[in-house]
Amino acid sequence: MREKLEQILVRALEEVNSCESKDALDQARIKYLGKKGELTAILRGMGGLSAEERPVIGQLANEVRAKIEAAIEECGNAAAARELEIRLAKESIDVTMPGKKVQTGHKHPLTATLDEMTEIFTSMGYFVAEGPEVETVHYNFDMLNAPKTHPSREPQDTFYFNEDTILRTQTSPMQARTMEKMQPPIRMIAPGRVYRNDEVDATHSPMFHQIEGMVVDKGITMGNLKATLEVFAKAMFGEDTGVRFRPSYFPFTEPSAEMDITCFKCHGKGCPMCKHEGYIEVLGCGMIHPNVLRSCGIDPEVYSGFAFGVGLERITMFRYKIEDLRLFFENDLRFLEQF
Ligand code: DAH
Repeated sequence: MREKLEQILVRALEEVNSCESKDALDQARIKYLGKKGELTAILRGMGGLSAEERPVIGQLANEVRAKIEAAIEECGNAAAARELEIRLAKESIDVTMPGKKVQTGHKHPLTATLDEMTEIFTSMGYFVAEGPEVETVHYNFDMLNAPKTHPSREPQDTFYFNEDTILRTQTSPMQARTMEKMQPPIRMIAPGRVYRNDEVDATHSPMFHQIEGMVVDKGITMGNLKATLEVFAKAMFGEDTGVRFRPSYFPFTEPSAEMDITCFKCHGKGCPMCKHEGYIEVLGCGMIHPNVLRSCGIDPEVYSGFAFGVGLERITMFRYKIEDLRLFFENDLRFLEQF
């Protein structure tokens, strides 16, 4: 038995020392030291030994096991070190290589314009409100004095979820939502997305952005409306920008108007851009209808107010002389990088 043990030790050490990988070492461990391994088989056979022999062989077997284990560990460390070296060589970093440029990016032209508009109005004391894009017919039309037969209510123009719920077609419902929540004085702008059932072309998109504005207080007049919007136009388009107001109609304002600015291309002389008018329409506005004030719990005998609604895409197109609205939403970096 002693001889057998010595043979096993010699063979095991030889085999272990020739192992090149961890897998091979595992195999060797199983072969000699595993449950069904050669050394284990010997130990099982010790029952047949005499009482004097047993401890001697037992001790020898333990020594053999310890030597094999030590050899496996040593070879394992060597294999791990070899593998690490190979990996390090493969993954070495050339610190002299030029770095990768970090792309910082910048604001989308629509965001830049909105930020500027927000700055202009907050500097005049307005706060910024936000409201839901999934809106009720109640706020989008009824509270805004829109007659039941108003064409904008038609499904050809408005996206309906059901007969009470729509995608808002304008930011004007924020007028009613704000007035319901607070009493005058109110100076508010409400930017956000609006939706209309329109085909996409150079000037239309089923989703676009508006900025609603509203002032309610004692003694607010059309004069305040005109002065405010003229300040806005000059801040936005330059000090030499002229404005004019044309009578118009909106259900929620009376009187209503449309504001034009002098054409940014010909500065009022007339050109194809402004269809030889010298002016370009930029927004709708008016004095808030007494019915709207009343239904929001504000007494029209005490308070009055004005409101306006601006298309963000339109303003941005004028500012940067962009001729196709689709460019805003295509996310083509060749376009976006120009701003
Ligand atoms: N909501 C109108 C639209 O989408 C724009 C508008 C016109 C808003 C007049 C106003 C306003 O606040 O007073 O066409």
